[in-house]
Amino acid sequence: MPCLMGLDISTTGAKALIIDETGAVIASANAPQPISQPKPLWSEQNPSDWWDGISASIRAALAESGLRGDDISAIGLTGQMHGLVLLDAKGDALRPSILWNDQRTQAQCDYMTEVIGADHLLELTGNPAVTGFTAPKILWVRDNEPEIYAKAAQVLLPKDYIRYKLTDAYATDLAGAAGTSLLNVAERAWSAEVLDALEIPPEWLPPVHEGTEVSSTISAAGEAATGLKAGTPVVGGGGDQAAGAIGMGCVTPDVIGVTVGTSGVVFAPLNSFAYEPEGRLHAFCHAVPDTWHFMGVMLSAAGSLQWYKDTFAPDLEFDALLAEADEVSAGSEGLFFLPYLTGERTPHPDPLARGAFIGMTSRHNRGHMTRAVLEGVAFGLKDSFTLIDQAGLPEQFEVRISGGGAKSPIWQRIIADVLAAPLVNVNTTEGGAFGAAILASVAAGLFADAASACAAMIQTDETVKVGDHVAAYAERYEIYQSLYPTLKDTFASL
Ligand code: XUL
Repeated sequence: MPCLMGLDISTTGAKALIIDETGAVIASANAPQPISQPKPLWSEQNPSDWWDGISASIRAALAESGLRGDDISAIGLTGQMHGLVLLDAKGDALRPSILWNDQRTQAQCDYMTEVIGADHLLELTGNPAVTGFTAPKILWVRDNEPEIYAKAAQVLLPKDYIRYKLTDAYATDLAGAAGTSLLNVAERAWSAEVLDALEIPPEWLPPVHEGTEVSSTISAAGEAATGLKAGTPVVGGGGDQAAGAIGMGCVTPDVIGVTVGTSGVVFAPLNSFAYEPEGRLHAFCHAVPDTWHFMGVMLSAAGSLQWYKDTFAPDLEFDALLAEADEVSAGSEGLFFLPYLTGERTPHPDPLARGAFIGMTSRHNRGHMTRAVLEGVAFGLKDSFTLIDQAGLPEQFEVRISGGGAKSPIWQRIIADVLAAPLVNVNTTEGGAFGAAILASVAAGLFADAASACAAMIQTDETVKVGDHVAAYAERYEIYQSLYPTLKDTFASL
């Protein structure tokens, strides 16, 4: 049976996944990745660590499966979006990669907004200037490390550095390229106008490909390093959110994806380009050819719960902690949690936003606090969902849920009630790597397009119905929405 490989360069690991044409997982290997935060607001990784990690994972997955390199029909790439990899003319990395969650570039974002104009930037790139995106990072290197900038010859995204090491070709995919602020998202091509305004040489950028299109093939050096077969096609693939959405079957506007990972994402496919007039939602190319998507990203979703547990209940199992929250009534007796622990993107693009518990009384115990965290994250997801709804949801739609946080039944019940929408689970837990392998299956000729590949390889599972707390949560959501505007200036002064 033909097999497919999905490779995922995430912030925490370099993962290789092998599936067959039914979508069954044959093997999976992950190499954890170190992250460095050398200064406040900075977040970096070394491209050589990704390469060491992914070559080890590819070898481990092949060994686990008992397959040889030539049993893999095609390979799909995905990974963390927005990161800047800067290479010299020889193809060597000039500095560590500046990652998606790095917040050092506010001055460069202000500059971009000034030279291009806020409205025009939105029209061209679908998004305002965002500190985590790639273009302001290039400008930051220009402004702060001129000796490095002088040697720059190539800009790549993290997963595209791995494509280069595997195939010896510079290339990227459109979903990833849309997160650079350098793409004309409607036209699905680099924006000559933005590049010109920012004085970034167009020859630094790689050719762009649709998610299912072959970008390049495994090179002899790629074969020697990984055991994959030289000549195996590698598709464009997609940024982690687009590939993850493919892995959940979110390929048409009537299937909305909610992902509760470290960050929380609401993903809505679009058949034509649109942007939210105030830029509060991301508008990107989808990894499905000639389609787009809206996306709301909250930066700390399951990340909030992890921080809360590590800080207040390090010795308790998650299940025991969540069981306490289940004893508390909906609304946590007036206790609110704001999940802005690492600043926020949607709907408040504010790196200085802070987390908070609000409304504490002496009646409140740990169960209330835990429930307030679960509810605060659900309200944060509702913020994105509401913006997508205002931008135009189809009359009939289904919401699919995935991500580590989505494994908790109580959290799923709270999210279903807060969104007032049933949540459909899908049978995969492999995330973006699974979606990347699905994209590869189209290039391998196994399916006509991404939608038929998804229909064949993804099964839906249990549906969590809307419960009894919709009205109660609708009232509380109004209070939640009033909290950030009230505290915004205080956060900034902290
Ligand atoms: C998407 C985003 C994250 C990163 C890291 O806009 O910033 O999903 O890609 O996972």
